[in-house]
Order: sequence, then C-alpha cells, then structure tokens
Amino acid sequence: MQYRTLGKTDISASAIALGTWAIGGGPWWGDSDDSQSVKAIQTAIDAGVNLIDTAPAYGFGHSEEVVGKAIKEQRDKVILSTKCGLWWNDDRGTSAFKLGDKHVRKCLLPETIREEVEISLSRMDTDYIDLYHTHWPSLEPDKYPIDNTMQCLMKLKEDGKIRAIAASNVDIDHIKQYQSAGILDAIQPRYSMLDREIEKELLPYCLANGISTLAYSPLEQGLLTGKIGMDQTYPEGVYRNQIPWYLPVNREKVLNMLEGWSDLLAKYNCSLSQLVIAWTVAQQGITFVLCGARKEAHVSDNVGAGNLELEAADLSRIRKDVEALGSPQEES
Ligand SMILES: NC(=O)c1ccc[n+]([C@@H]2O[C@H](COP(=O)([O-])OP(=O)(O)OC[C@H]3O[C@@H](n4cnc5c(N)ncnc54)[C@H](OP(=O)(O)O)[C@@H]3O)[C@@H](O)[C@H]2O)c1
Repeated sequence: MQYRTLGKTDISASAIALGTWAIGGGPWWGDSDDSQSVKAIQTAIDAGVNLIDTAPAYGFGHSEEVVGKAIKEQRDKVILSTKCGLWWNDDRGTSAFKLGDKHVRKCLLPETIREEVEISLSRMDTDYIDLYHTHWPSLEPDKYPIDNTMQCLMKLKEDGKIRAIAASNVDIDHIKQYQSAGILDAIQPRYSMLDREIEKELLPYCLANGISTLAYSPLEQGLLTGKIGMDQTYPEGVYRNQIPWYLPVNREKVLNMLEGWSDLLAKYNCSLSQLVIAWTVAQQGITFVLCGARKEAHVSDNVGAGNLELEAADLSRIRKDVEALGSPQEES
C-alpha cells in the first residue's frame, strides 16, 4: 500500500481509501448489511487502508455509526474523515433535496457546524476527527461567507476536535476563499476515468498549492468493475439511475471498452477494479482514491490495486481509450 501526506499536515494516509456512502444504505443504495459492513471496514484496515471517509448524510447518521463501531478497538490506526453542511435537524440553510422523510438543507453556518461536529463525534464514539470536510458549498438565499465557515473550522482545529480541513464539491473560487481564511489541506471532488472534468483547472491548482485531492466515485459506483451488465436495472430512487453512464447507450460503450482490456488483466494478473483504481491513483494531482465498498470481497479486491504499478505505455493507452468514449449521451 502506498501512503501519501495529507496537504500540509504530518498525516500519512493510504492512497487507496475506503468510502462508506453505501454502508449508510437508504433509498440511494438500498439496504446494507451492517455486520458485513463492519467486516468490510475491518478488512480494509487489516490490509493497510487507514483513510476512511464517511458523512452524516450517508444513511442519516447510519454510516458514521457503523464506521464508529468498526474502528472502536483500533481508532489510532485510522485517519477518520467526515463532513458537515448537509443539515436536516431544523429549517436553517437552503433547501437542497428530500430523501425519505428528511428534508435536507445546505447549511454552513458556524452554529450548525459546531452542533454537527458534536453529533458526529458522539455517533462515531470518538473525541477527534482527522479530516473534516464541508460537504457542499452553501447556496443562496442562505449562502454564508466562506470566511466565517473557515474561522469556525479553524477554531475546531485549535480546540483539538478536528486535525485538518477539507472542502468537497468546490470550485477554484471557493478554494481561494478557504485559503485566505485558514489552512485548507484537501478537497474532495468527483473523479473517475469517465469523469475527468477536474483535470482542466482544479488538479493543477491543487498540485501547485499543496492541496491533496480525495477522488470520489472512482468506480462509477461499480460500473467500472465490469460487474454491472446490460441487463442490470435498479429500483426507482437508487442513485445509479442518475449517472448518465448507466443509460444503456452509454453503458454498452463502457462495457466494450472494459472488455478490450482483457490483455492488460492477463499482463498484470489483476481484476478490472484493480486496473481502474491503479490507473486513477497514478493520475497527476490525485492524492487519494476513495473506493466505496460495503462487502469484504470488494474491499479485498480493491486493496489489491495498492500493489499494482501500471507501465507508462499502459497508462497512456487507457487514457486514449477513455478519451475516445467522449461525453455520455444524456437521457432524451
Ligand atoms: N463528497 C461527496 O459529495 C461524495 C459523493 C459521492 C461519494 N463520496 C465518497 O466517495 C466514496 C466512493 O464513491 P461511491 O461509493 O459513490 O462509488 P464507487 O467507489 O465508484 O463505487 C462503490 C460501489 O461499487 C461497487 N464496488 C466497489 N468495489 C467493487 C468490486 N471490487 N467489485 C464489484 N463491485 C464493486 C459496490 O457496489 P455495491 O455495494 O452495490 O455492490 C460499491 O458500493 C463514497 O463511499 C464516499 O465516501 C463523496
């Protein structure tokens, strides 16, 4: 397993990290089996994964609870990452979405952040969070100055509640505002070989500014593992239905591309997931790859990418293939 330094901190975290959105279950992912999830998390730690990412919004606290339970006996081995800014306890913040019986708002008010951090600490049964993200930028009409949000986060750091600060789903303008009010160690953007938008501006900016990146949805929620065939459908509400690459017309192209890499799987004696993760970890500006998993077998497969170094010619060949796919067609 490769370890990389988180931003300007002295924290060393595994390049292959574990994402626990699916562990939260709920309408976006369907039910998750908690005992399997706990085993999956512990398998990751045993394999050298120390960076574990969760969020209050993942199953409305459920993912944080399961993560807390899984790491209880080995808290010191884990770089624990969670988030704030999606709020459903009252009507502060700007309406974002409804899920089940919850009305979720985007809210980065210092007072809700201070409440959120305490709730997360208590759910995860710990007294500190290693990496604390703002999950989404706040929006009009309740758009709060990033300065105020950052001052609150810096105070939480001074108080020892959090060790480092990150922002998710931000653009360069947001990043600059965070930087002018404190120390931003990381961002968490969407990035996979099928979604490389951040290569244009964000990645070069982060590289030049010592900001780490945690790439999310690197497997396009399983599509890039090759295990989601043309016949697979998902119940209404499942998040995969919102990803354009899952539309049959796009999915077919992706599956054909993956099939074309069978010689690479033989050459490296690896699975497709491992090939995809190894490619993603190797991209300039990508520091950590957040591989989501709720099953032990998936974790064991994915961590295998930690020992896989692809030759430059193969990295370029894969890039050429994904570029040839172009953008996904949208639903008409
Ligand atoms: N900051 C944000 O706004 C944001 C947004 C999205 C994600 N994230 C973070 O990034 C993490 C990763 O993203 P993600 O969970 O959306 O997607 P992902 O990592 O691209 O895919 C995760 C899903 O792919 C399937 N999978 C994983 N490994 C597999 C394997 N080896 N073989 C077959 N299937 C496999 C599993 O589906 P099944 O469990 O259904 O089998 C798993 O839940 C999240 O868990 C979360 O921590 C953050």
